[in-house]
Amino acid sequence: MTDSTTPAGDAQRVIIFDTTMRDGEQSPGCSMNLDEKVRIAKALEELGVDVMEAGFPIASNGDFEAVRAVAQVVEKAGVCGLARAAKPDIERAAEALRPARRPRIHTFISTSPLHMKYKLQMDPETVHQAVIDSVGWARNFTDDVEWSPEDGTRTEHDFLCRCVESAIRAGATTINIPDTVGYTVPDEFRALIEMLMNRVPNIDQAVISVHCHNDLGLGVANSLAAVGAGARQVECTINGIGERAGNAAMEEIVMALRTRQDRMPYVTGVDTTQITRTSRLLSAITGFSVQPNKAIVGANAFAHESGIHQDGVLKNAQTYEIMTPESVGLGRSNLVMGKHSGRHAFREKLKDLGYTLGDNAFSDAFRRFKDLADRKKEVFDEDIIALVDDEVMRG
Ligand code: KIV
Ligand code: ZN
Repeated sequence: MTDSTTPAGDAQRVIIFDTTMRDGEQSPGCSMNLDEKVRIAKALEELGVDVMEAGFPIASNGDFEAVRAVAQVVEKAGVCGLARAAKPDIERAAEALRPARRPRIHTFISTSPLHMKYKLQMDPETVHQAVIDSVGWARNFTDDVEWSPEDGTRTEHDFLCRCVESAIRAGATTINIPDTVGYTVPDEFRALIEMLMNRVPNIDQAVISVHCHNDLGLGVANSLAAVGAGARQVECTINGIGERAGNAAMEEIVMALRTRQDRMPYVTGVDTTQITRTSRLLSAITGFSVQPNKAIVGANAFAHESGIHQDGVLKNAQTYEIMTPESVGLGRSNLVMGKHSGRHAFREKLKDLGYTLGDNAFSDAFRRFKDLADRKKEVFDEDIIALVDDEVMRG
C-alpha cells in the first residue's frame, strides 16, 4: 500500500517513527514544554525521521498546544497525535493536528486478556467493536490512521488477527504491534510478525510497524527481528528514553541497519551525521543524561582506554571501531573548552557539533561563550549547544 508516509515502491525502506515527544516524554523527569518540543521537532526533521509522534493531545492543554505548535513548524515529516479508542480523544488529536501538512492519528486499545479484564474491564467483543469504531472515526479526519493493540505481544493470536483485519478494513493504513511491557524475545517476536503476515488476509493493505519497550534490554533486538519478518516501520526514541526502562533507541536501530547491511539490507531516511547533535540536544533540554557506555551516543562509545586498543586504532581505526565517529556526527578531536579557548577552537567545536554560523552570529556566540567560561571551569558540549541554539532562535 502507499500513503503519504510510505516511501512507495521500495520494499527495503524502513519508516522511522519517532516517539521521543510522546512515549519518550512519559519517562519520569523527561517532560517538555511547548518551546522544547518545537526545538526537538526541528532537530528530528533535520535528522530525517519519517513521522514524529508529538504528544497525546487530550492528556492536557499543554500537550494539545505543543502538538499544534509542532504541526505548524514541521514541513516534511508526518506529525502524529495519540488517541485512545474514544471519539473525544480522536477529535482532540485531529484538532491539534489541523495545521500539519501530513497529519496522522494513532489510536490504540488494549487487546490482551489481562488488560481487557483488569484495565479496561471490557469483554473482547466490545473491544473489537471499539477498534472498528475508533479507526473509522479517525478516518473522518485524515487518511493516515495508525492502529495499535496495546500489550499486543501478550494478546491471544486469533483475537489479534481478527482485530488487525478489522482495523485495516475500517481504514487503518499502519498496524503497529507494541511490546508494551518489553516481554517478548527476538525469535518469538519475529514469529509473531510472520504469523500476522501469513494469517491476516488484508495485511498487505497496511504497513506493519513495531513498538518495543526495553524492560529486558531487548527493545532494539526485537525491533530488528521484526524488520527481518517484514515490519516496515519501527517506533523508537532518541537515547531510548521512555516508560520504565525506555523504548528501542533510534540511534541503535539506524546504525545497526547501516553497519550490518550484509545481514540486514534495509535502508532508512535518517541522516546519521545528525545523531550525536540530536541526542545531545535532547539531554540538554530534559536534563536526562546518557550513560557513558550507551551504544552510539554515550561519551565512551568511541573512546579507547587501553594501550593495546589505542595502538590498534592508531594503526587502523577498524581494528576496534565498527563504525566511524564521523558517521554519527562526532568530530575526531575531543576539544576541552574553557576560558583559555580561542576563536579557532570555538569554531572547530561548533563545526563538530554541526553548526555553521555567519560572522556576526559567531562573534556574538563567542562573546557569550567567554562570559560563560568565566563562570564555569569547563564548558560542556551541551552548554554550547544551548548557547548556540538560543543564538539561532534570537537571530
Ligand atoms: O507501549 C505501548 O503499547 C504504547 C502504545 C500507545 C502504542 O505506547
Ligand atoms: Zn510505548
